[in-house]
Amino acid sequence: MDIEDVKRKALEEKVPIIKDEGLEFLLDFIDKNQFRDILELGTAVGYSAMKMAALNKDIFIDTIEKNEDMYKQAVDNVSNSPYRNQIKIHFMPIEEYRTDKMYDLIFVDAAKAQYGKYMEQFLPNLKEKGYMFFDNMIFHGLVYDVENIASRNLRNLVKKIIKFSEMVRNDDRFDIMFFDNIGDGILLLSRRESGS
Ligand SMILES: C[S@@+](CC[C@H](N)C(=O)[O-])C[C@H]1O[C@@H](n2cnc3c(N)ncnc32)[C@H](O)[C@@H]1O
Repeated sequence: MDIEDVKRKALEEKVPIIKDEGLEFLLDFIDKNQFRDILELGTAVGYSAMKMAALNKDIFIDTIEKNEDMYKQAVDNVSNSPYRNQIKIHFMPIEEYRTDKMYDLIFVDAAKAQYGKYMEQFLPNLKEKGYMFFDNMIFHGLVYDVENIASRNLRNLVKKIIKFSEMVRNDDRFDIMFFDNIGDGILLLSRRESGS
């Protein structure tokens, strides 16, 4: 299946994939910075991984997925694509993934409530000049109207996103760029240069 068919099927089956605008921004950011080693947290059916791999044949992506059905579809999609040698799909919970590999970019697109945990878990794997990319930071605009969210579970989730956002802004280890007008809200985190 080609990438656009993967996207079409994902949308039809209501698989959550990155929005066009966020994806465009992500691809542009990878391309401009010539990133090569990418870690993706949350594969779903492999759509965003395939789009990133399509940018350049020297890009290599590790991507992690714990849902067996998603994983199988992703393996099928990737192994029947020209990107099969550029994408390695790891079938496991993100929490269990351990590696010594260093990445230029860590694209965080899984459980929103765990963003803070993932950030600390993978910070040792981020190259000095690398970036972490967090999607869904405005969560369909709900971060601006949190007290009016009727469902308690959803309200708690949105509060966790807000807390994460505040936490990283106030952490002097990091420089933050926040784009609340792109896609579903994107936060870019990089290590602050020492001495600045
Ligand atoms: C938003 S989707 C990923 C979309 C994909 N990046 C794209 O744009 O094509 C999030 C995925 O993360 C997976 N996920 C959530 N929590 C996870 C965890 N703790 N470990 C591994 N995968 C997880 C879900 O099963 C889901 O398929």
